[in-house]
Amino acid sequence: MKPKVAIVGCGIVGPALGKLLSQSGYGIIGVASRTLASAEKTAHFIGISNYTDDPLYISKDADIIFITTPDSAIKAVCEKIAKSCGLSSGSIVTHCSGALSSEILSSAHTCGAYIASLHPLQSFASVENALKIIPGSYFSFEGDKEAIPILKQIIKDLEGIELEISTEGKVLYHAAASVASNFLITLMNLALDICGLIGISRSNAFKALLPLIQGSLKNIESVGIPAALTGPIARGDVEIVKSHIASLESEDPRLSYLYKILALYTINVALAKGTLKQDKANELRSILSTSQIF
Ligand SMILES: NC(=O)c1ccc[n+]([C@@H]2O[C@H](COP(=O)([O-])OP(=O)(O)OC[C@H]3O[C@@H](n4cnc5c(N)ncnc54)[C@H](OP(=O)(O)O)[C@@H]3O)[C@@H](O)[C@H]2O)c1
Repeated sequence: MKPKVAIVGCGIVGPALGKLLSQSGYGIIGVASRTLASAEKTAHFIGISNYTDDPLYISKDADIIFITTPDSAIKAVCEKIAKSCGLSSGSIVTHCSGALSSEILSSAHTCGAYIASLHPLQSFASVENALKIIPGSYFSFEGDKEAIPILKQIIKDLEGIELEISTEGKVLYHAAASVASNFLITLMNLALDICGLIGISRSNAFKALLPLIQGSLKNIESVGIPAALTGPIARGDVEIVKSHIASLESEDPRLSYLYKILALYTINVALAKGTLKQDKANELRSILSTSQIF
């Protein structure tokens, strides 16, 4: 018998999880949302009849409760359910936030329930998109040890891939995901800004740089890091790096500052690759060191 599931929060992730878990044989005993309209739409989508705007109507009968509200509402929703003892002892309450750990659900312990977080390491534009890309996605998870076997079973049934993390590590896990996803956009924007300084339009710059980026991603995939690193820092070409800094500095000191910070970090990657020797690394460090803050 698969666990009985309740879903609280009918935006993108809640309906998608409900549909996929239902297709995998889980009984979805009900869905709740802030508005009845969203709950009703989701119930129809999943193919169930039980929907409500009060999570207490569905939480008590569930073996696992997914709180898939926006992050800012998770704690209050859980506290509201726990305060009315709307959880059965031994049930599991989980949320899908990447930024928050299971500890935010600690009010559920007062009812004898276990707590966990289960985060799909993905970005979903819509429910339809989520249905397509959840299978094959990584899912990080952490929480009470009693909850872990069920989380692993759910990940398997969703055709996801497990990534177990510690509760204490959740914040750094999310920082890493933000660096990989958000800062990639920031880096691209930085390159477009620099192209703008020599009169290349953003759209042309984007088209021209895209194959370079895609090639770098392919190299990372095929040979890994640090082997995929190329360029002047990997080669220890101090003069080229100096010329980059001088040109950026003359245009906009904020650009040279960013360049220096990233280049300093890149020295470690180049040393690990083995193509940058220690004496060149020291030279690079001395020209890149900066105390300037903007
Ligand atoms: N979307 C993503 O790419 C993604 C990826 C990974 C993880 N996540 C995580 O998954 C969770 C859900 O994200 P989402 O993108 O599905 O959010 P969302 O589209 O903003 O939907 C959340 C839904 O929760 C409902 N809600 C708001 N406050 C509520 C409350 N107090 N009680 C009950 N329901 C409430 C709202 O329903 P009404 O329509 O009824 O107002 C809203 O539609 C979040 O923790 C998020 O961090 C999202």
